[in-house]
Amino acid sequence: MKTVNILVLGGGGREHAIIKALKKNDRVERIYCVPGNDGMDGGIPFPIDINNFPLLARFARTEHVGYIVVSPDNQLADGAVDFFEEAGFPCFGPNKAAARLESSKIFAKEFMKRHHIPTARYEAFETLEKAKAYVEKEAAAGHLPLVIKADGLALGKGVVIAETLEEAEETLTRFMQEDAFGTSGHRVVIEEFMEGPEVTVLTLTDGKTIVPLLSSMDHKRALDGDKGPNTGGMGVIAPNPYYTPEVAELCRKTIFVPTVQGMRDEGTPFKGCLYFGLMLTQDGPKVVEYNCRFGDPEAQAILPLLKSDLYTLFRAVTEETLTPEMVEFSSDSSCCVILASEGYPKSYEKNVEIKLPHHLRDKIYCAGVRKKGSTYYTNGGRVVSVVETAPTLEEAIAKAYETADQVTFRTKYFRKDIGQKALKALERK
Ligand code: AMP
Ligand code: GLY
Repeated sequence: MKTVNILVLGGGGREHAIIKALKKNDRVERIYCVPGNDGMDGGIPFPIDINNFPLLARFARTEHVGYIVVSPDNQLADGAVDFFEEAGFPCFGPNKAAARLESSKIFAKEFMKRHHIPTARYEAFETLEKAKAYVEKEAAAGHLPLVIKADGLALGKGVVIAETLEEAEETLTRFMQEDAFGTSGHRVVIEEFMEGPEVTVLTLTDGKTIVPLLSSMDHKRALDGDKGPNTGGMGVIAPNPYYTPEVAELCRKTIFVPTVQGMRDEGTPFKGCLYFGLMLTQDGPKVVEYNCRFGDPEAQAILPLLKSDLYTLFRAVTEETLTPEMVEFSSDSSCCVILASEGYPKSYEKNVEIKLPHHLRDKIYCAGVRKKGSTYYTNGGRVVSVVETAPTLEEAIAKAYETADQVTFRTKYFRKDIGQKALKALERK
């Protein structure tokens, strides 16, 4: 049997979950992860420069790597897949042109308009003056709150829901003049505020066929009760109870298929994991955002429920042979709770000792973790993801919190209400 070495780019809990799933395939020999983190089991972390593509290609050649997975948005936006394919490596992930669905909110909004894909009404601006004039007009017409989004990548933090005109103006100044996100915020999208339950659907697509994976519910705000600032994600449950078979069919017809078809028709087929952030409004499901990669922590929540072999699916995406029958999930539920450093997403302390009980390693995905000697220390905002699966959502949540209690570090902070909204929705069913 021919074996393969894989290089995964990225270094968080999402990459840890991808590595664990890829490792289940007997053909997969070694998995290198750049930069990786010291808590990853299954992968070999290699802290070299993730943005130096020529260096990475040389490394891949030396280590006989036969497949490259580009996981994070930044490197996809910078054309990592284009570069490695040109260098002769088969890859998982969209090329630079397709990654614009995430790397430019303006591109994504204009694309949706061209293809009649339902999304929030919006205007795009390149000057502070015009943007301010627009929010004044909207506020005077009673259209508040307004949603202000930086055009480019901003670590999931470039979205502000402005409740008042003052807040909208202050946000625009911060994004467009004070460089809160560097050049990412120089152009902005201003959207109408939508209401309804949110659903994330990760899908795999080879550019022609799109196959939804499991639906999930992220918890993006830092504090219980969906309060506090937006983060990269504080916890996830899957599947999402709001995503009924009827909603799924509607999303397939009005959103998923038109997106893949539209990208293909424009000569920029999307190959990889396409992430749909959806809102189920009274007028039907609408797109909140596209991401061009697995979600973090959505990947940690759904990959443990995947029954099919992930490496086989990735190769089918690369080779354009994907079919819906290839994807099978367990009927269980899962709950992922992020253990973060107190203060995240703002400032927080690092280098705090972590106790990671060895018998729980299968339930834990490491992100901001480093090792000195045989001791683990915190090294980031989101430190570890704890994931448990069970036949019911209620059991999965209870198990995840029991496990979360057993991982300890002085600055540990986590939300206590992951999944509660979903449980209430299930009660109402
Ligand atoms: P995004 O990064 O575009 O997903 O936005 C982050 C979060 O802001 C989303 O998960 C929503 O909760 C919220 N959001 C974004 N756009 C809108 C909108 N047009 N209306 C209401 N909430 C929104
Ligand atoms: N959890 C949200 C994201 O990965 O963008």
